[in-house]
Amino acid sequence: MEKSADSAYLIHELIRNRWSPRSFTDMMPSQSQLLSLFEAARWAPSCYNDQPWFFIVATKENPKEYEKMLSCLVEQNRIWARQAPVLVISVARITFSLNGKPNAHAFHDLGMSIQNIALQATGMGLAIHPMAGFSKKCTRETYNIPEGYDPVTALAIGFPGDPNTLPAALREKEMEPRQRKSLKDFIFACTWGENFISE
Ligand SMILES: Cc1cc2nc3c(=O)[nH]c(=O)nc-3n(C[C@H](O)[C@H](O)[C@H](O)COP(=O)(O)O)c2cc1C
Repeated sequence: MEKSADSAYLIHELIRNRWSPRSFTDMMPSQSQLLSLFEAARWAPSCYNDQPWFFIVATKENPKEYEKMLSCLVEQNRIWARQAPVLVISVARITFSLNGKPNAHAFHDLGMSIQNIALQATGMGLAIHPMAGFSKKCTRETYNIPEGYDPVTALAIGFPGDPNTLPAALREKEMEPRQRKSLKDFIFACTWGENFISE
């Protein structure tokens, strides 16, 4: 299934076609496909080039490890995310490695690296679905994440599958068109709230 963005202006087809599916096929991405995703993450920009992103990966090739990560997700996400052959938890280092000072842009930079993963995945026929719905406490304890590092998002990764495999409520959501605010609602000029776009 495809869920292309109904964009008002021209955008790159990778951006148009990226979306966050809940249904995935059983097909396991190859190791080199997975590494291409993280290679894409690696080339994201970051404040002082500090590269504060870290990723913990679990695949269905190791069912015990996969279940371990799945158990850190909230139940509403577990329902569908268990279809994905690969799960990832992203972690941000919240201080600069250079001087140990707080890095106020760590989450920004981690997000940039995840968008790189998302677009790279789209270009390869894969998709990712980011999730805030997981337990940071569970993740911290399960993976011995040290102080100064924050679990940020979980990702379900795989090839988009058949929405009919989902429970009815999720299937409906899966089929809904993708919605966004209009440009005039978030681009301002001169002062807060004043439209940049004149129509
Ligand atoms: C930081 C973040 C957290 C999210 N958390 C969840 C989540 O816990 N469960 C879920 O089903 N979707 C989650 N999503 C997916 C969003 O709902 C989705 O990106 C949004 O509805 C737009 O849809 P699209 O990605 O298909 O364009 C999350 C997305 C982001 C970026």
